[in-house]
Amino acid sequence: MKLEINGERVEADVAPGESLHTLLRGREHFEVKKGCDSGDCGACSVLLDATPVHSCIYPAYRAEGKAVTTVAGLGRPGTLAPLQQRFAAGAGFQCGFCTPGMIVTASALGADDLDELPRLMSGNLCRCTGYRAIADAIRDTHTPPAVGDGHVGSSLPALAGARVVSGQEPFTLDVTVPGLLHLAVLPSPHAHARITSIDTSVAAALAGVHLVLTHADSPSTLYSSARHENRLNDPDDTLVLDPVVRFRGQRVAAVVADSVAVAEHACRLIVVDYEELPAVFDPHEALRPGAALVHGDKDAAAARLADPGRNLVAELHGEYGDVEAGLAAATTVVSGTWQTQRVAHNHLETHATIGWIEDERLVLRTSSQVPFLVHREISRIFDLDPARVRVFTARVGGGFGGKQEILTEDVVTLAVLKTGRPVQYQFTRTDEFTISPTRHPMEVQVTLGSTSAGRLTALRLRVLSDTGAYGNHGPGVIFHGCSESVSLYSVPNKRVDAECVYTNNPPSGAFRGYGLGQVIFAIESALDELARELDLNPFDLRRLNSVGPTDPLVVTRVESADLIIGSYGLDQCLDLTQAALARGNGAPVPPGAHWRVGEGMASAMIATMPPRGHHSRATVTLSPTGSYTVGIGTVEFGNGTTTVHTQIAATTLNTTADRVEIRHADTDAAGYDTGAFGSAGIVVSGKAVLHAATALAEKLRHAAAARSGLPAASWSLERDGLRSPDAFISLTELAGPDGLLAEGEEDGARRSLAFNVHAFRVAVNTLTGEVRILQSIQAADAGVVMNPAQCRGQIEGGVAQAIGTALYEEVILDGAGAVTTRVLRNYHVPQFADVPVTEVYLATTVDAIGPFGAKSMSESTYNPVAPALANAVRDAIGIRPHELPMSRDRIWRLLQS
Ligand code: FES
Repeated sequence: MKLEINGERVEADVAPGESLHTLLRGREHFEVKKGCDSGDCGACSVLLDATPVHSCIYPAYRAEGKAVTTVAGLGRPGTLAPLQQRFAAGAGFQCGFCTPGMIVTASALGADDLDELPRLMSGNLCRCTGYRAIADAIRDTHTPPAVGDGHVGSSLPALAGARVVSGQEPFTLDVTVPGLLHLAVLPSPHAHARITSIDTSVAAALAGVHLVLTHADSPSTLYSSARHENRLNDPDDTLVLDPVVRFRGQRVAAVVADSVAVAEHACRLIVVDYEELPAVFDPHEALRPGAALVHGDKDAAAARLADPGRNLVAELHGEYGDVEAGLAAATTVVSGTWQTQRVAHNHLETHATIGWIEDERLVLRTSSQVPFLVHREISRIFDLDPARVRVFTARVGGGFGGKQEILTEDVVTLAVLKTGRPVQYQFTRTDEFTISPTRHPMEVQVTLGSTSAGRLTALRLRVLSDTGAYGNHGPGVIFHGCSESVSLYSVPNKRVDAECVYTNNPPSGAFRGYGLGQVIFAIESALDELARELDLNPFDLRRLNSVGPTDPLVVTRVESADLIIGSYGLDQCLDLTQAALARGNGAPVPPGAHWRVGEGMASAMIATMPPRGHHSRATVTLSPTGSYTVGIGTVEFGNGTTTVHTQIAATTLNTTADRVEIRHADTDAAGYDTGAFGSAGIVVSGKAVLHAATALAEKLRHAAAARSGLPAASWSLERDGLRSPDAFISLTELAGPDGLLAEGEEDGARRSLAFNVHAFRVAVNTLTGEVRILQSIQAADAGVVMNPAQCRGQIEGGVAQAIGTALYEEVILDGAGAVTTRVLRNYHVPQFADVPVTEVYLATTVDAIGPFGAKSMSESTYNPVAPALANAVRDAIGIRPHELPMSRDRIWRLLQS
């Protein structure tokens, strides 16, 4: 068949059933992404003649005689179209995985279409940005401020911008690997079963099959798919292939074949006999005597489990003061139970790994947030010399905590070691719903006691968290969830009882906010109820009880000294949010008597990095040609760290951002870095870059002094060299033939706190239960803002994800451990039309710990949103929501009650 691709005439052989997407990627048009393979996300959008289509569901043969235009056909670096330029300059992307498809669809719009943008762009999802910056880029309604030298404080655009907006920046699978084999897995049909026999003979004999793997091939080393600096944080309860399956979908066997289709076909030919085992799906049931035991075979001490005989992964019990006495002394007591749901990350790039052997070393190219931790654990599981393993990432298409796991690297390693061939394993979108861990669903009980004046006398918290079949992140999520949520308030009597339990549901894991969002939803809802009981303004109730800048931080004991309030902006955040809400935004209430209007707010506090150490070692090198290179181990997955690290180096070395290059996320090419999670990108990795750049600046001054005989202190750095009052030495002279290198390190030993306050004005339709957001406001204390455009983008993106959690998103199980929301069209990721513009306000503080006084601002933005929205709904309809999501039908049912 003949067609035209980006103006070039081509001939192609099309296989029966082949999609246009497969045809294009087969011809190395890697700018055409795959996010869902079912026509729901739009990452694969291309123009067919002038019409945007989702190429993943468009039959290739129907493109015969037509002109196909990908984003690369619209423009490439150096020849970008104006639309592409606006996306690049105006922070119109974060991870950038949606961007090629988004730009293609937008390129077909005319000026008359712009009022209809939310509807016309509904076929293109973005999980990162919250759409505001995308809308500005399409409408051309925002002129980015000048960035000058690109130093700290400027809105320097992402350095990969021109490549991202033209699809030329490679992601994990955007590479041609000769001889590549593909891996598929056989999922368990049972929630809990022991494999009694597996017959792989028919599958192994299928043409194109190279290897069938079962538990007999698996290393016997137990591990956790969760990755932390300290591997002991998580229970060792997982095997690459386990003879016991504990949730529906768990891998039973794996096939390596010439193509995914052959591998999947062979999986269906594997004959497995199971002995079904009793299963448990309700976390309350899981704790009852006689409940089915999910990991009853585990040794508690060896696996680091609180009590496998009670399905208890981890627990937290403690009291500060005397809660019963505090409640007895209260004039008002408020109590309630709140329930949160499973939420899927839905980063548009699904999990994927390509592995191969090179120079007798294992190499993994993976979509990980934590390549160094993957390196360490894969070496341990397979008993490999770490020097014989390399792990690296290309640009990663979103993570949000979902890629702080080993989900594909382990089985790919096994396949590569067995075959000696390159092997690729890519999750489908359905795998992301059924295999990939979700946010932990939690039941949270809160009891508050207060004086009539609104001073809290007691806070009691009970949390039950369902970690599903594996304990990855289970302990950390309840400990973190019950930490800053409780210590935000100065209460003389506090008690926390939290339990994390196994069930035979799919596993839960790390997700933006790391448990805080769930617990804050409950505490901030209870506080709102208390404000109502006392007839107090909810802002004033927070002012009365929030921890002050010099107060001790208390959960059930005074927190250790590693956590300090490095700067305090909560008071500003409360003032800014309250003032914006009072001002209003003029958004009209929808017409009709059945709309009720309400307002609500909530506060949140979060540590600026994970506890127990987060390490990063950076290098900054001056090359013989006079340019700088930063080597840093952390990953770029839309968090913007490459941009901010460039700004930090450029500022410290007093050069321009275009003179700084970043090499990152490669265990061969950068120093150790714990990874891109816990919002550590600026405050840990960025600080390591600052230390390294500072050391290099000092080295340069001393080199100039040695060369000139003038004191080092008399030399100052400029873009091209060093200047003293009477002399100038160029960088190339100082670098010499070998260049100069300096190192810097940060260990995360001291952590600060960031604050966020959110408020909403909503209208609720009492006939349908629809919640319409009229005004959305977030004020944040990010310390010194390193990059205003990026910081705003992180806040908007976090708010958009939280609105999804609050109103729409839920991974639904059938009660027997099977996921029923298996494709995006059955799971409502916020679309263009669903996300309001959020007014963003920033407190002005200078943090004592972060580089240049900055704090992290990534996870924290998520946490106050759901309770603020729930409190606004309560204000509107007079009934308090206790469950997420506050979907239309759930609110309608509340109204009927
Ligand atoms: Fe849109 Fe990441 S930037 S999905």
